[in-house]
Amino acid sequence: MNLTVHPHGPLSGASTVPGDKSIAHRAVLLGAVAEGESRIENFPFAGVTRATLHVLTGLGVEWEATASTLRIVGNGRSDLTTPIRPLECGNSATTMRLTTGLLSGANVPAVLDGSNGLRRRPMGPLVQALRELEVPVHAMDGGHAPLTLAARSNGRALRGGIVQLDAPSAQLKSAVLLAGLGASAPVTVIEPAPSRDHTERMLRSMGVEITSEAPERVTLTPPSSPLRPLRLALPGDFSSAAFLITVAIILPGSSITVLDVGLNPGRTGLLEVLSAMGARIAVQPTGERTGEPIGRISVAHAPLRGARVSGALVPRMIDEFPALAVAAVCAHGETRVRQAESLRSKESDRIAALVNELRALGANIEEHPDGFTIHGPTPLRGGVVQCHGDHRLAMALAIAGLAAADPVTIAGAEAIDESFPGFSETLHSLGAQLE
Ligand code: S3P
Repeated sequence: MNLTVHPHGPLSGASTVPGDKSIAHRAVLLGAVAEGESRIENFPFAGVTRATLHVLTGLGVEWEATASTLRIVGNGRSDLTTPIRPLECGNSATTMRLTTGLLSGANVPAVLDGSNGLRRRPMGPLVQALRELEVPVHAMDGGHAPLTLAARSNGRALRGGIVQLDAPSAQLKSAVLLAGLGASAPVTVIEPAPSRDHTERMLRSMGVEITSEAPERVTLTPPSSPLRPLRLALPGDFSSAAFLITVAIILPGSSITVLDVGLNPGRTGLLEVLSAMGARIAVQPTGERTGEPIGRISVAHAPLRGARVSGALVPRMIDEFPALAVAAVCAHGETRVRQAESLRSKESDRIAALVNELRALGANIEEHPDGFTIHGPTPLRGGVVQCHGDHRLAMALAIAGLAAADPVTIAGAEAIDESFPGFSETLHSLGAQLE
């Protein structure tokens, strides 16, 4: 599907965004192994979260969806059924990595597979991390899906211990913690820098003892009693809000408020960078939703200057680099992103894809092995661009199109439905013209 975006003047108004997909994956998998019925409100029924629900069906877990509420009937980890067919994870690396961790702890043998895109994503670090706990897991060619998880003889518990990750990754940390639910002793995960902590917050709310001796070091004590079911209303997804925030900042005269959005500090690094670039952003916390801070973010257009992003900030805005790159094209001076090599193994090689497609629209952008440098501002021109099957690249190109001199057509824009169904309608309601 092609999406054509017409250059546009100011956007204004207030909007919500779909529920947080990162938290949604965790709620589905943990709801499945809780003891009792979990209810998750504001559930985003998007491509990737459907993949996790599909996995639940393969594991014999009963669930029911009505409007935006998901009900899951959990009977504990020991009640999961051994799947007879490979568990299809679609395009969702989160589904594959977190499910592998959960099934490792539950001692459920399975094969996990996915789309061709998912088969290209690296699974070697996951296999390596889980093997530290003596999980019998194998990947194809040493590092790709399909993954095969064997049964452990005599239902033996996994080993506890310390797992040190080479790069910050919430998916890997979560996979290890979920495996740790079935360990014989505490499991500690250490990252080079802290990543989002949704899994830790949710497990705590279910009665599991999780301590964080330092932000980048977390220990789970295997629970001796069943996990309490979840009653959640998911916050809006900050990573979806990021596109609305960015477009308001780059289009002169705009002002947008995003309501009921998640403000977990492990996710909101983009706000710090945009503020340092000169953006006017007002964050108004409105409370907590089941352990996650939420609030409202109001932004207005402002002239921007370049910024530098590296180190511990990278995992706190890991999904926001496509939006940042568009802001950087509109900013005065140089924006440098470094130590972000993990962007090469997202839904696309996000460094190469951003460089190619933004350059096609007139950006002055240089590629580096671990990031990119943008010299701005450069006027953006219209044209046809590719989103490489990557939902976030498609949305970044769409907001670039609103700031361009002529229409921009994004080929393959159906990818947007992976995380933000209703993206075009939301922009339209704020005044944009798309078709
Ligand atoms: C996610 C973690 C991040 C992020 C992804 C979702 C999660 O991946 O890019 O979109 O839900 O834990 P990594 O953990 O690989 O950095």
